[in-house]
Amino acid sequence: MEHQGRGRHRRDGGGRAHRPSSPLSDARAAARALQAGQLVILPTETVYGLAADAADAGAVARLYEAKGRPRFNPLIAHVEDRAAAERFARLDERARVLTQAFWPGPLTIVAPLTDAAAVCDLARAGLDTVAVRAPAHPLAREVLRLFGRAIVAPSANRSGRPSPTTFADATSETGAAAAVALDGGRSAIGLESTVVALLDGPPRLLRPGAVTRAQIEALIGPLAEAEADAARSPGRLSRHYAPNAPLRLDVDRPEADEAFLAFGPAPRGPLVFNLSPRGDLAEAAANLFAHLRAADALGPAAIAVAPIPKDGLGEAINDRLRRAAGYVG
Ligand code: TXA
Ligand code: MG
Repeated sequence: MEHQGRGRHRRDGGGRAHRPSSPLSDARAAARALQAGQLVILPTETVYGLAADAADAGAVARLYEAKGRPRFNPLIAHVEDRAAAERFARLDERARVLTQAFWPGPLTIVAPLTDAAAVCDLARAGLDTVAVRAPAHPLAREVLRLFGRAIVAPSANRSGRPSPTTFADATSETGAAAAVALDGGRSAIGLESTVVALLDGPPRLLRPGAVTRAQIEALIGPLAEAEADAARSPGRLSRHYAPNAPLRLDVDRPEADEAFLAFGPAPRGPLVFNLSPRGDLAEAAANLFAHLRAADALGPAAIAVAPIPKDGLGEAINDRLRRAAGYVG
């Protein structure tokens, strides 16, 4: 995993930056802030999160407020490992197989809730199910270990905008609301976790992500489509991850006044941002949100995006692009 810019920053309410002596002291400061009901910018391997104590309804209310997030959109409870998840979620055999294969890592499981106090009602948007994930980033793991309980952490963007994949993007989105901001370098994956519902009936893919459909189906069989669950997973609603400029997808030749997100060999130019010159989907995923932001910052008439293959990680990349373009998925 790549970690750039290991600079460490701690921000107090007043916004003055401190630089504590080590990542460990930063993690301690973050765990203390969470215990005090404050919010923390938390790096993960997928995207940066804005974290709060999952059991603290006051802290979770401040988190929704800071993101401008509709309260009917539930949060993911982050845990250190499967044993920690099983303190408040019922993980069936399928969940055990998947967590064994992919945790810690970019897979979120929606399971029946067994302890409503561990993840407060507001964090679950009142549902009797809970989304759980064990992130792989060492700083996130250290904070979880020190804190000892579940941490909710939606992506650190303001609601509806692209997820932050750098410390600078995270702090510029919601940093003002955070007591502590941890710099974990550039997010290695760059797309949010795959979300799979393991409730009654067949498993359902609620959000494609870095763990691909094929990887999951190889272990637990076919994934049903998520549409019936759309209301329960509002991250799947249209116009999400959106820049200010309109998006135009599957474009081979951009107009002169358009920024262009290329994929594979492409002419260079001041308005061209190449997701992966060598046509690699993992590289494109890692660059997607940062390039969208950079293209948007130029204030183009539109952002044109080259066709991206639909297989493997391409399913998640195309999902985010369709939502950023405002298409109903
Ligand atoms: O990679 C990630 O998952 C990042 C990092 C920070 O861990 N977090 C993230 O959180 O993407 P957020 O809040 O942006 O997305 C959570 C998704 C939403 O689509 C939400 O609707 C869905 O998970 N979700 C959460 N709880 C759910 C539940 N009980 N049933 C169905 N969907 C749920
Ligand atoms: Mg999000």
